[in-house]
Amino acid sequence: MYILGIESSCDETSAAVVSMEQGGRRILSNIVASQIETHRLYGGVVPEIASRAHIEAISSITYEALATAGVTIKDIGCIAVTSHPGLIGALLVGVNFAKSLAFANKIPLVPVNHVKAHVAAAYLEYPTLEPPFTALVVSGGHTSVYSVTDYTDFREIGGTRDDAAGEAFDKIGRVIGMPYPAGAAMDKLAYEGNSDAIKLPSPAMLGDNLDFSFSGLKTAALNYINSERQKGSEPNAADITASYTRVIVDALVKKMTLAIEKTDTKRLVLAGGVAANSHIRTALDKLCKEKNVEFCKPSLALCSDNAAMVAAAGYFEYLKGNFADTSLNASALDEEY
Ligand code: KG4
Ligand code: ZN
Repeated sequence: MYILGIESSCDETSAAVVSMEQGGRRILSNIVASQIETHRLYGGVVPEIASRAHIEAISSITYEALATAGVTIKDIGCIAVTSHPGLIGALLVGVNFAKSLAFANKIPLVPVNHVKAHVAAAYLEYPTLEPPFTALVVSGGHTSVYSVTDYTDFREIGGTRDDAAGEAFDKIGRVIGMPYPAGAAMDKLAYEGNSDAIKLPSPAMLGDNLDFSFSGLKTAALNYINSERQKGSEPNAADITASYTRVIVDALVKKMTLAIEKTDTKRLVLAGGVAANSHIRTALDKLCKEKNVEFCKPSLALCSDNAAMVAAAGYFEYLKGNFADTSLNASALDEEY
């Protein structure tokens, strides 16, 4: 039997088939249709356009996922769909599509939390990984630290008090002229700049906590750029990017050092779109080696939004019997309901 994952929480429509044997850890297909080119025109995701693009893509993407896996809907034993959190209109497309498919074919349906799905991406590449562990999810919409006690039970032990790390990269990237989303381009550009060039405030909250705040950092970088422009000079984009990346990396290392100590964990999982950042990966790799902690960082394709991670998380919800019926609704919020 196989599990069909469906993801439509933001600007990627995705469907994937994952085997229910081998602990739900073998991917047969993982098809992702990105809307990035469409949203790039506007410098960010336009929710209404995202919903329409999901509607246009979801049937063919699902068909392609089944065909690539060499299975038919009759082989599917469970449909897992991202039901929260995310853009409500975008989520509704996946949820309604999954409900219809499940109802018409009498297949059990499980709702999946998108942030938990990001963490579950690690199970797909680390076959022996099992809870308990500590997880850092850094994406366009989230920056959260979790104590993962069980495959389906997470406790949030820290996180951002305002903006997400990915959003912080995208906003400043846009101001220095990079197309949306700026994260990957800033990753490359940071190697060409001087990370000591500009003094910026740390996004790590003061004190014995695992919290972040990115809004002050964003404002400080923006003020620096604006004041340079007012003086008639264009600030050096590489230096800004290197300095900006440095304070983010330092803050993540500082708080993950504390998280490892507080939770006494032996494994750290890094997840979410920003987990693709090479500076963050290298710095956390070094930290984990120093602390003798196993560092699980999924490959880049599994860091950004995809349905294989939804199927991986859905597998464990299925085992727990956390099924939904046709009354399932989507929610923009990151809370269980
Ligand atoms: O997880 P994701 O695909 O979508 C959300 O659930 O938010 O994350 C997208 C975010 C964007 O903000 C993008 O700029 C960022 O991940 N990103 C990166 C890199 N690649 C993608 N940020 C920093 N460095 C990267 N290499
Ligand atoms: Zn995501």
